[in-house]
This record gives sequence, C-alpha cells and structure tokens, in this order.
Amino acid sequence: MSNNLLKGKRGIIFGALDEKSIAWHVAQKCHAEGAIFTLTNAPIALRMGTINKLAEACNAQVIPADVTLIADLETLFSKSMEVLGGKIDFVLHSVGMSPNVRKGKHYTDLDYDYFHKTLDISAMSLHKVLQTAMKMDAINEWGSVVALSYIAAQRVFPDYGDMADAKSLLESIVRGYGYQYGKKNKVRINSISQSPTVTTAGSGVKGFGSFYNYADAMSPLGNADADACADYCTSLFSDLTRMVTMQNLFHDGGFSFTGVSQEVMEKYSG
Ligand SMILES: NC(=O)c1ccc[n+]([C@@H]2O[C@H](COP(=O)([O-])OP(=O)(O)OC[C@H]3O[C@@H](n4cnc5c(N)ncnc54)[C@H](O)[C@@H]3O)[C@@H](O)[C@H]2O)c1
Repeated sequence: MSNNLLKGKRGIIFGALDEKSIAWHVAQKCHAEGAIFTLTNAPIALRMGTINKLAEACNAQVIPADVTLIADLETLFSKSMEVLGGKIDFVLHSVGMSPNVRKGKHYTDLDYDYFHKTLDISAMSLHKVLQTAMKMDAINEWGSVVALSYIAAQRVFPDYGDMADAKSLLESIVRGYGYQYGKKNKVRINSISQSPTVTTAGSGVKGFGSFYNYADAMSPLGNADADACADYCTSLFSDLTRMVTMQNLFHDGGFSFTGVSQEVMEKYSG
C-alpha cells in the first residue's frame, strides 16, 4: 500500500548488502512511497552482496563509498545531487561493523586497532556523513537523517562487545549534530533503536539466537522485523514527523520498557 508519503523527495540509502539488510527493506518502502534515491555501500560489499538487484527494482543508481573516507562521501553527495537533480531530503545511515565482534574478541580482551575501526565505521561515520553534507550544503531544509542503533547503548548485553560503545557514541552524535544541523538548516537527525533482526550484521553477534528469542519473549508485541523498521524509517523521512529531532526512538515491540514478561516469569517459576 502506498500513500505517496515521500513523493518528490530525494535520498541516499547506506547499508543495503542483501535482502535481509534493514536498508534493503527501507529502500523498497521509500521507492513504493514515491521517493527517488541513490544506494551506497563499501566497494567490497558491492562485490559480495546483491545490491544491483535492488537498484534495478528501485530504479536507483549505486554509488560506491567507504563511509569512513571523506573523499568518498564528497563524491557520493555530489554524484547523488547530480543524478537525482537537486539537494537531498533524506539519508539512511544503516552501517555497522566490529572487527572485534567478528573475530570473537571478548570485551575484556579487545584489539585496539579493531576498536578504532569499530568506532570509525559504526559511529564516527555518521559525523563524517553529516559534516560532509553540511559543508557541501547538500541537504534541504527539513531534511531527515536516520541512523540505526541498538539498546546495548543503554544496557549491558555482554556479547555485543565494543559495538555497545559504538552505539552510545552514535546516539550522542545524533543529539550533538541534531542540534547543530537543526539550528543551521532545520535538518533533523534521529536514531532508531531496533529489535534484534536476522541480518548479516545481527547474526554475527555471538549468542544472537538466544537474545533474539529472549527479546521476543520479553516484548509485548514481539520483536519488530526489518519490514516494520522500514515503515518507521519512512515515517521519519516524511513531513508527518517534521518536528521530531535529536531522539533515540525505540522500535522494539515494547522491549525497552518491559521489566519482565509472563513468558519469562514462567521460565523461572520455582
Ligand atoms: N540486525 C540487528 O539485530 C540490528 C539491531 C539493531 C540495530 N542494527 C543496526 O542496523 C544497521 C544495519 O545493519 P543490518 O542488521 O541491516 O546488517 P547488514 O549487515 O545487512 O548491514 C550493515 C551494513 O554496513 C555496511 N558497511 C560495513 N562497513 C562499511 C563501510 N566501511 N562503508 C560503508 N558501509 C559499510 C555493510 O556493507 C552492510 O551493508 C547497523 O547499524 C546495525 O548495527 C541491527
């Protein structure tokens, strides 16, 4: 069902790797709601993934960019404005990677070069995207930027490792830059704190199956899937949410505010 919520809007979508990616679902919804956009990912991901299939379906051009490299981001913004015919109205930052998590390094035995990479790719990159866009004056007034986060920014999930620190920094940048860009150009910036979702990045976390099931049992609505997340992103890109900025918005079926659920209580009944 389409309501043309994003008709006339131009966007850039980071992070669609394959059909499971949250960004993949967001691209499909944005297309259905009438937006035009470019797709981007790291050059290596473009070789490994299936993004061209998505690009064809959405009539979108793919522009490679390593989100940690300013020169790539400058090219991405200038090419996107050229291809789409004007300044950008929305950006999805759906990027995350921890070499420590990937290599099974425990939180008490981190490799610090990897830790830098985790923070750079998963958090500082949002600052780089925003600073590049602001310097190039690439985002229209009332534009909307959404990044994806996880509740490990606020609460401890032992196996989420240094990604928890990256998400805390990401959410802080959402507030810090949200203030600056709001004042300067009325651009709004929010993060969505999403339920555990079966994707390449998600499933890479040790014990993912257990905390996926635990979150599902704790949430009154159950876990939110990638498709529902895409609906929420679409609403945040639309004008219907134009006064929402600097927020970390939980999209988790109620998990974040549930102390304990009946299902979990029953597991521990004596
Ligand atoms: N899957 C979950 O359980 C879950 C839950 C909450 C939040 N998130 C967040 O959602 C976002 C999207 O992840 P996903 O679950 O769709 O997994 P995904 O693996 O499909 O997406 C992660 C993306 O980051 C891209 N990426 C990595 N390094 C990059 C770089 N240097 N430059 C550009 N792109 C780079 C990857 O190529 C990939 O497309 C991430 O921020 C993730 O932390 C995921």
